[in-house]
Amino acid sequence: MTKVFVLNGPNLGRLGSREPDIYGSTDWAGLVQAVESKANSLGLTADVRQTDSEAELISWLHEAVDAGVDVVLNPAAFTHYSYAVRDAATMVTKGGQKLIEVHLSNPHAREEFRHTSVISGVATGVIAGFGVDSYLLALTQLV
Ligand code: DQA
Repeated sequence: MTKVFVLNGPNLGRLGSREPDIYGSTDWAGLVQAVESKANSLGLTADVRQTDSEAELISWLHEAVDAGVDVVLNPAAFTHYSYAVRDAATMVTKGGQKLIEVHLSNPHAREEFRHTSVISGVATGVIAGFGVDSYLLALTQLV
């Protein structure tokens, strides 16, 4: 089965208890299960990871480049300011793989600092505002 990386940035491990009015009631384990099961139904194997560390997230993007796998990326707050994550994401898409930026919430309907994504300009596409379904739609799009 084709592998896909589903990479998640800071604070997403707190899903379920973190601002459920915004991010929903599904916890991290529930998100992983939903993503893995959708991936399997599409003939994909999802390698789902979360980190609070910018360096670790960047190292996983490098790993995706080296392994030639597509990426579903929720950069979380790094979305709005990390040029380092953007540069690593650029290597994925310029290397010929797809990278879909996803968000649980719709950042454009929230605080102004969330209206800017430094990642979108180098992503293959962006899906935001559909909760866990944002990830499932991204997986569907990859196949
Ligand atoms: C988020 C939106 C970001 O603005 C925020 O910092 C997150 C989660 C989302 O999935 O809606 O941590 O990426």
